[in-house]
Amino acid sequence: MSDMTKQTESTTNDAAPWRGNPVAVITGGSQGLGLALARGLAERGWSLVIDARSAEKLAAADYELSKLTTVVSITGDVTDDDHRAELAEAASNLGGASLLVNNASALGGSPMPTLADFPLPDLLTTFEVNVLAPIALAQLLLPQLREHGGEIVNISSDAAVEPYPGWGGYGASKAALDHASAILGLEEPKVRVWAVDPGDLRTQMHQDAFPGEDISDLPLPETVVPGFLRLLDERRPSGRYQAPDLLARVSEAPADAEVA
Ligand SMILES: NC(=O)c1ccc[n+]([C@@H]2O[C@H](COP(=O)([O-])OP(=O)(O)OC[C@H]3O[C@@H](n4cnc5c(N)ncnc54)[C@H](OP(=O)(O)O)[C@@H]3O)[C@@H](O)[C@H]2O)c1
Repeated sequence: MSDMTKQTESTTNDAAPWRGNPVAVITGGSQGLGLALARGLAERGWSLVIDARSAEKLAAADYELSKLTTVVSITGDVTDDDHRAELAEAASNLGGASLLVNNASALGGSPMPTLADFPLPDLLTTFEVNVLAPIALAQLLLPQLREHGGEIVNISSDAAVEPYPGWGGYGASKAALDHASAILGLEEPKVRVWAVDPGDLRTQMHQDAFPGEDISDLPLPETVVPGFLRLLDERRPSGRYQAPDLLARVSEAPADAEVA
């Protein structure tokens, strides 16, 4: 364990870990969409492995979630090899991951720079966090996921398909993640691989993308969680999905995956 890394395991009422329960690894589980998904899964009895760079916020999330389920929270950066190995080991110790949610993401700057002025170190970090780390974590967890017939959710964005000025670094990285997701889905028949665009949400990342703007009209991340749970419940084919569509079709028959 590195000096920068703090690992805590919390269990409900200090009981032994629920080794029979499915295990989800969620990156960026301390706030925003990651925390909302963690809550939704915890309420269904999933055991959780979560991470974030800020120890303080992660501890607050751990405190809340551990009232519902077994939680291992590990402070660290998804771009760090040792940190990713700790996430995989923690999942293995809980019985093996059935779900990986690659949710942690980098915007590339705030305000977001145009490509002409994008500092290359920031562009590299954006791709490391948004593309390389999700693939690297999938590599580590695939043996566990195959064994459990599990799923990978790679959190995408409409910026992966729509060319918004100023969103070149983030958008290109999410497009790359979408493409990697589509190929991984073909290569891994035992595992579902979904790229999911959650839609615009009222989170810190969205505020950072629009500094000083009022985003209070945007939906909270909790509102899209039922769409993700539906994806899990129906174990839809690997492919690209939009959370608002999954929500809107909640009473309809399962639809085919959107062609990315
Ligand atoms: N919000 C939107 O409108 C929107 C729209 C489309 C897609 N998305 C996608 O939704 C996902 C979640 O975003 P959000 O809006 O919920 O963002 P958020 O509220 O800013 O939360 C991001 C989470 O990721 C963690 N994180 C960031 N970089 C990390 C790193 N390098 N290593 C480990 N953890 C890291 C953050 O904690 P620390 O900062 O402490 O590390 C935090 O827990 C992202 O993939 C984003 O691209 C969001």
